[in-house]
Amino acid sequence: MGWPAAWLCAAAAIGGLWAGDGEAAKLAPYYPTPQTIVGRMLQLGGLKAGEKVFDLGSGDGRIVILAAEKFHAQAVGIEIDADLCRQSLARIAKLGIEKSAHIVHGDLLTQNYGSADLVTVYLLPDSINGKVQPLLDRQLKKGARVVAHDFEFRAWTAEKVENIADDGEGRSHTLYLYRK
Ligand SMILES: C[S@@+](CC[C@H](N)C(=O)[O-])C[C@H]1O[C@@H](n2cnc3c(N)ncnc32)[C@H](O)[C@@H]1O
Repeated sequence: MGWPAAWLCAAAAIGGLWAGDGEAAKLAPYYPTPQTIVGRMLQLGGLKAGEKVFDLGSGDGRIVILAAEKFHAQAVGIEIDADLCRQSLARIAKLGIEKSAHIVHGDLLTQNYGSADLVTVYLLPDSINGKVQPLLDRQLKKGARVVAHDFEFRAWTAEKVENIADDGEGRSHTLYLYRK
């Protein structure tokens, strides 16, 4: 089990993490992808130098940072939490990768992903299937790839599924690759 059951229960208990009227929907709590799995996600997504990658709900920016620093991609993270944005931007500045790593402080449901070559997603199942999938169906260009961590897009057929039995800390993970 990748995402602890307690997180899912907590999310359900507070009404699926939906914010009040007029506020952005909280589509998942902050629960970072382990660093070892970040690299596997970008590899599975076939990320190449110069390509554009978006991480939907970018947390502390770890996917954006690795994509820019090691894969030489143009990486954009969308994050609703101001503190996590600040942390991400501080790390990006420290590494001096501001030209290729970008963080947008905002709601991932109000962005445009039409330029994406790759999108990475680690959000709750209801958010993925109820909100993100219709948005990506409308916006993604043909050939764009999506890598989902632990929770699949039920309406899509995965091109590849990668099971990782142990991330080094005893947790298992499943990664799904989709192509439009
Ligand atoms: C499970 S964490 C994943 C973080 C990062 N992508 C990773 O894999 O390490 C989900 C993130 O999505 C953010 N988030 C939730 N709802 C959002 C929304 N509507 N717009 C932008 N970010 C959101 C949360 O604040 C959290 O940082």
